[in-house]
Amino acid sequence: MAPFPRTPRTTLACTRFHECSKTMSAAVTAKLKEQFEAGLETRADFTIDQPIDRYSAADHAVWRQLYRRQTALLEGRVCDAFLEGVARLNVSAQSVPSFESINRQLKPATGWEIVAVPGLVPDRVFFEHLANRRFPVTWWMRRPDQLDYLQEPDCFHDLFGHVPLLIQPIFADYMHAYGRAALAASDAGALPLLARLYWYTVEFGLIRASDSPNGVQIYGAGIVSSRGETIYSQQSAAPNRLAFDLERVMCTRYRIDTFQKTYFVIDDFEQLFDVARTDFAPLLAKLADAPALAAGDVLATDRVITRGTQEGWKSDGDI
Ligand SMILES: [Fe+2]
Repeated sequence: MAPFPRTPRTTLACTRFHECSKTMSAAVTAKLKEQFEAGLETRADFTIDQPIDRYSAADHAVWRQLYRRQTALLEGRVCDAFLEGVARLNVSAQSVPSFESINRQLKPATGWEIVAVPGLVPDRVFFEHLANRRFPVTWWMRRPDQLDYLQEPDCFHDLFGHVPLLIQPIFADYMHAYGRAALAASDAGALPLLARLYWYTVEFGLIRASDSPNGVQIYGAGIVSSRGETIYSQQSAAPNRLAFDLERVMCTRYRIDTFQKTYFVIDDFEQLFDVARTDFAPLLAKLADAPALAAGDVLATDRVITRGTQEGWKSDGDI
C-alpha cells in the first residue's frame, strides 16, 4: 500500500485568498447567513463576541479529539516554538478555549490578541486586523464528520494552527509587518504576490531541523492543523523542499486542492524577522510583471533540500 494517497487533498485548505469578498463561495455565504439568522451581532470590523454558550457537547468533543490527535502526531515533527506556544497559552485540551483566556496570556507577551469572527472576512478587513495585532479566529467548530477535510477555516484551524506562534516575538512581528504590507498591497493591486508569501510561510511553512526526517520540521498552520499534511510535508518523497527565498516565493503559484507540490524551508525564525523589515513597495513594483512560476517548478538557482518524485501530482490547478 502506498504510504500516501495518490490524489491527496489538504485536510484543511485555508481559503482566505481565493474566497475574497467578491468571490466568497455559496457555502461560506450560507454559513454567514446561518449565523446572522442565529442572532450573532457582527460589528463593522466583522468581529463578534465569542458565543461561548453556543458550543455543544459535540463541538467540545471534536476539539478534544483533534487536539489529542494532532498534539500526539506533532511531537517531534513540529518546531519547538509551536509546542512552547501551546503550553504558554494554556490551550485547553478538553474543550474549545475561551478567547478571553487565550488573550490573558497572549496580549502581555507580544501585544497580539485574538478576536472572534463568523468565518472568512474580506481581505482588507483581515489585513486591517493583522496590522493592528489582532488575529481573527473563526468561532465555530467543524462537525464530527469533517475531522479530516474542511473547505474553510474553523476554530481548530485558526486557533490551534495559527495562534501558538503569535506568542513568539519574532513571528508576532512578522505577522504584524505582513498585515501592514498586505494592506498597502491590496490598495495597489499587488495582493497575489503577498498571498503567496502568506501561503508558503504562515500556512505551509517548514523550518530546518537537522535531526528530523528530510531535515525539516513544521510551523505552518495549514500543516499543523492537518493530520495528512503533517506526515506528507515532512516525510513524503513526492514534494520539493526548497530553501526559502523571498522573491522566489512571491513568484510561485500554489495548490488549494491537494497537498503542496513545493514547500519552502526557512533556516530559522530570524529569517522571517529579516522579511518583516523588507520595504515591500519597491519589491512589489519590481515583481509586478515577473512571470509566475508553477507550483512544482525547480529552478537552477534554487537551493534544493529535496527534489520531489512528483508522485500523485495533478497537472493543473495552481493558483
Ligand atoms: Fe489559516
